[in-house]
Amino acid sequence: MPEFCGVILNEEKMNSKKTAIVTGGSRGLGREMVLNLAKEQHNIIFSYNSQKKKADEVIEEVKQFGVDAVAFHYDANDLKSGEEFLQNVLKYQEENYGTPNFDFLINNAGTGTFNLVKDTEEEQFDTMLNIHLKSVYFLTQKALKYMNQSGRIINISSGLTRFSLPGMSSYAIMKSAVETFTKYLAKELGERKITANVVAPGAIATDFAGGTNRDNLEKRTIIENITALGRVGEAEDIGGVVSFLCSEKAGWINGQRIEVSGGMVL
Ligand SMILES: NC(=O)c1ccc[n+]([C@@H]2O[C@H](COP(=O)([O-])OP(=O)(O)OC[C@H]3O[C@@H](n4cnc5c(N)ncnc54)[C@H](OP(=O)(O)O)[C@@H]3O)[C@@H](O)[C@H]2O)c1
Repeated sequence: MPEFCGVILNEEKMNSKKTAIVTGGSRGLGREMVLNLAKEQHNIIFSYNSQKKKADEVIEEVKQFGVDAVAFHYDANDLKSGEEFLQNVLKYQEENYGTPNFDFLINNAGTGTFNLVKDTEEEQFDTMLNIHLKSVYFLTQKALKYMNQSGRIINISSGLTRFSLPGMSSYAIMKSAVETFTKYLAKELGERKITANVVAPGAIATDFAGGTNRDNLEKRTIIENITALGRVGEAEDIGGVVSFLCSEKAGWINGQRIEVSGGMVL
């Protein structure tokens, strides 16, 4: 009987874990979000686009926290790929936990193409539209049906919706739209006790933008000089904020844009 009780307890423990979906978890900010959420004992599903090997490495890192992790391919520039990603997620959940449902959705995946307004081509604009707005909108829309009561949606925006830097227009416009989308999500999902918030990072030293926030000394100096805390952001500065927003303590934060930039361009 005690063994039996033990099994019940273990099952309860297993089932009590929540599941977070993080798009773009193979590198940069998404990887840190994955690791921080795993540290908080949430099971993880994340996406990669081009870097399967890096995704596999992240899965290995996650294992040390004793939670489950899996990664599926997702190209946010292709709406069909989003549908396939979601189907893989639902199938995986159903097979492993007997329900397709999950708890947290973090829309993080993305890359930037930068050009002055006068030089921006329609194709570039459409790529930004697909990756940073359409895919976020429709992945969220389709996933919502499977989100548990009291779930959390966190959309990753950018400091560039508050201040302007030359060459960032098509990227920043989509992030602004995602911020508006987030407010609508918060309003419409309140009855399911689901919150929706934006995390808007400042300049962070990742592979993003050709890795220039990390590798270009001139750019780093500029960022340091316009940031109150006097340094370039690191991916670790963001991951913990996202996991906090998924915690019980953050349950009353809703419909907000939280900038995490060390005080950039104040
Ligand atoms: N770094 C910054 O300064 C900064 C500032 C503000 C906001 N952000 C935002 O933060 C998010 C993450 O950026 P990051 O700095 O972590 O960039 P990163 O280090 O370049 O990582 C990008 C992540 O997104 C995935 N990804 C790239 N293109 C994709 C596509 N077409 N479809 C699906 N997934 C794709 C990558 O997958 P693979 O590894 O498989 O290629 C990777 O997991 C982005 O939304 C970005 O706009 C970044």
